[in-house]
Amino acid sequence: MELGIKTSWFKMNKKILITGGAGFIGSHVVRLFVNKYKDYQIVNLDALTYAGNLENLKDINQAKNYIFEKGDITDAGFLETLFKKYDFVGVIHLAAESHVDRSISDPMAFVMTNVIGTVNLLNVAKKAWNGNYEGKRFYHVSTDEVYGELFDPKEFFTETTKYDPHSPYSASKASSDHFVRAYHDTYGMPTVISNCSNNYGPNHFPEKLIPLMINNIKNNLPLPVYGKGENVRDWLYVIDHARAIDDIYHGAENGETYNIGGNNEWKNIDLVYLLCKIMDEKLGRAAGTSAGLITFVKDRAGHDLRYAIDASKLMKKLGWEPSVTFEQGLEATVEWYLSNWDWIANITSGEYQKYYEEMYG
Ligand code: NAD
Ligand code: TYD
Repeated sequence: MELGIKTSWFKMNKKILITGGAGFIGSHVVRLFVNKYKDYQIVNLDALTYAGNLENLKDINQAKNYIFEKGDITDAGFLETLFKKYDFVGVIHLAAESHVDRSISDPMAFVMTNVIGTVNLLNVAKKAWNGNYEGKRFYHVSTDEVYGELFDPKEFFTETTKYDPHSPYSASKASSDHFVRAYHDTYGMPTVISNCSNNYGPNHFPEKLIPLMINNIKNNLPLPVYGKGENVRDWLYVIDHARAIDDIYHGAENGETYNIGGNNEWKNIDLVYLLCKIMDEKLGRAAGTSAGLITFVKDRAGHDLRYAIDASKLMKKLGWEPSVTFEQGLEATVEWYLSNWDWIANITSGEYQKYYEEMYG
């Protein structure tokens, strides 16, 4: 699909910094860019927090056009050295603290990485590019949670929906979005932002709803559903998010925002029942066995009722559309977890954090 994609100016320039590439979505973005654009040099910068796992990238670790750099985006001096070393023409910024429940218990970690870290990156890119923005791009990856919550089932978040974040996570992402826009409007920086709905797929950290439920079902543990399970999320397969990021990185105009979503809304409780059904079949359990593990627990504080994205701008202007149905994506996801059980076992045992310690310190 060539619609709206202007690769020519960009292809002449090669070094791209992807932050947060050892995380869930970042690892899929790194893999897509490394495999698809052999003439780009992809530098993956990640602090390897609890959410970063280089096992996610073991298939491309040796690729010629891929380099990993361990570092923290809250460290401006480190970022400056990195920009001097590589002379980046592009940044795709995914590094973040990303879990709402953690933001409720430790908001400051979200301010540090999501706000201060993003402003550090903007400052360092601005200094390195020094007003020469030809062929440069600063792409900030954000969330639909900045828009708040929806009550009217006929309403959707569009690119012009007013920001109304409720959780410390969404407030920190909203703040970082505002800084990115401010650097475009004030300094003319070539920025782009996308706001995506909930992702699911391989390598999703098992603190988030779908992998947590898969893990707990497999291990016969309680399935904690917050409140009455009435909250609605719009689920998108992670590889389709990565494809959208590729299209937007190459096709957007400077200063633009794109919403990304799957047009695929599920009430939490219905989704948990569906996962129970799929897992019963896969594990050879009698129908209804796993659903017996469902446990309604205290609701999340400030729990947003419904997120739903209108992705028509992305579809019309850049020709993006999801490559899989939810049934296909969920099937592939459950299969991936069942065939990569050591990945989740390494996480629950903490083993994954030792994995590359010797190599990267
Ligand atoms: P994740 O938590 O799986 O990964 C985040 C990565 O960032 C990890 O590898 C972590 O080590 C790294 N990181 C954290 N703090 C860092 C720091 N200070 N310096 C350098 N690296 C650091 O997150 P994810 O789910 O892959 O989300 C990636 C991005 O996409 C985030 O910006 C998030 O807000 C956004 N997003 C996520 C979703 C979703 O459903 N998961 C939806 C829309 C947007
Ligand atoms: P989550 O995966 O944390 O994503 P987000 O909060 O960013 O949407 O949660 C998805 C939905 O599932 C959300 O409405 C909270 C709910 N939830 C549960 O009911 N139980 C759980 O154990 C978790 C982690 C989430």
